Amino acid sequence: MKTKARGGLNAAEPSESNPVFPIETVRAAFPALNRAPQFTFFDNAAGAQVPQVVLDAVNHHLLECNVQRGGRYRKSLEVDETIARARQSVADLVNARHANGIAFGMNATSFIRLMSLAIGRTLGKRDQIVVTDMDHEANIATWMDLEKSGAKIVWWKVRGDGNLYVEDLIPLISSATRLVACTLTSNAIGSIVDVAAAAKIAHAHGAEVFLDSVHYGPHGLIDVQAFDCDYLVCSGYKIFAPHMGFLWGRRELLEKLPTFREDFIPDEPPGKIEAGTFIYENVAGMDAAVSYLETLGKSMAVYRDTRQALEDRRGALERAFKAIRSYEEMLSLEMFSALRDCDATIYGKANENGIRERVPTLCFNLPNISPSKVTEELAKRNIGVRDGHMYSPRLMRRLGLLAESGAVRASLVHYNSIAEIHEFGRALAEIRKSC
Ligand SMILES: Cc1ncc(COP(=O)(O)O)c(C=O)c1O
Repeated sequence: MKTKARGGLNAAEPSESNPVFPIETVRAAFPALNRAPQFTFFDNAAGAQVPQVVLDAVNHHLLECNVQRGGRYRKSLEVDETIARARQSVADLVNARHANGIAFGMNATSFIRLMSLAIGRTLGKRDQIVVTDMDHEANIATWMDLEKSGAKIVWWKVRGDGNLYVEDLIPLISSATRLVACTLTSNAIGSIVDVAAAAKIAHAHGAEVFLDSVHYGPHGLIDVQAFDCDYLVCSGYKIFAPHMGFLWGRRELLEKLPTFREDFIPDEPPGKIEAGTFIYENVAGMDAAVSYLETLGKSMAVYRDTRQALEDRRGALERAFKAIRSYEEMLSLEMFSALRDCDATIYGKANENGIRERVPTLCFNLPNISPSKVTEELAKRNIGVRDGHMYSPRLMRRLGLLAESGAVRASLVHYNSIAEIHEFGRALAEIRKSC
């Protein structure tokens, strides 16, 4: 289905290098969307749906090799192979040089905790940690806890337009900075941060950079080399995989970090940051989620020969995210239009000029109707969105909102459609009239 933003909005015209986004094919790949076609799911920032290939991979794992790794028998060897393959897939997804820099675990929060405990043991004269007031609390409070071990917290603050600017970071960094902990994208208002510029400043002073890519992951191409970060954390369940998380770190830094580990666990990455057994079936699902994105990229490509199509996985991922970004810009523009029609206040980047600096995650409020009432009314109409502070209470206060009630968040990904936005707009208009 060819979708075009209404109202003369300037979404890029499809061309050979920017083909029409195959929304119907994409939606057909996600069985949950088709089981409940009357339900509009705009709560993707809390966790996305999974494609059939992910379901198949999880099923296959549980049916064929639901055993412990490290044995000499076939099923156990197959588990080892799945984990190794998934590590390489995630390394390709984030553009890591070494698959052994990828660790698997429960979720992003527990990895941030693990890393903060290790980094907290290395503070010395470099005892300052820069955090932002735009991040999810997982990437703020966890670092703040290090104040108990002598860390000094320095705040990089969001500007009125809802983004972080590197000019504001410069005066905060010195030879006392140990780490800059920052998100790639706000899970509340969707702003994308120029993390490569932040890393340049941090590294010039010998500090390290810890990136939270949880919210950016489903929307844009992660590239640890281009971001020039030192550590990066992500949740698989936000990027079309089951519930699990992963961490990437520069190998030489992971090797040195005094992580908490038991004596029986190897003192090298990734083992030293993966204490114990993780959920192998979900790691198999993560591997399949990367394949899904790769296949999407290949379907968008005009490959000259099959060999290139078979070999160039990172190229396919780049193409997938180029297409996703472009399609999602159109979704954001359409959301602006639907929300403006209802006189909603949109927080953060709210017009076409800032479209490249955001993803289609929008926090808004309707005049004189509480956020909880709006989500309740939308729920009655089979539309799933969320209200509250989105685990970013500091950002809510910065935006002039009460952290307790916050705002309504509609968070879309590439399987959402313009038709769903129209449905959402109609529902909002009704609510505005009747409440
Ligand atoms: C930006 C961001 N960071 C961190 C987290 C925490 O992730 P997890 O649930 O994997 O611990 C979330 C969860 O929503 C998030 O959106």
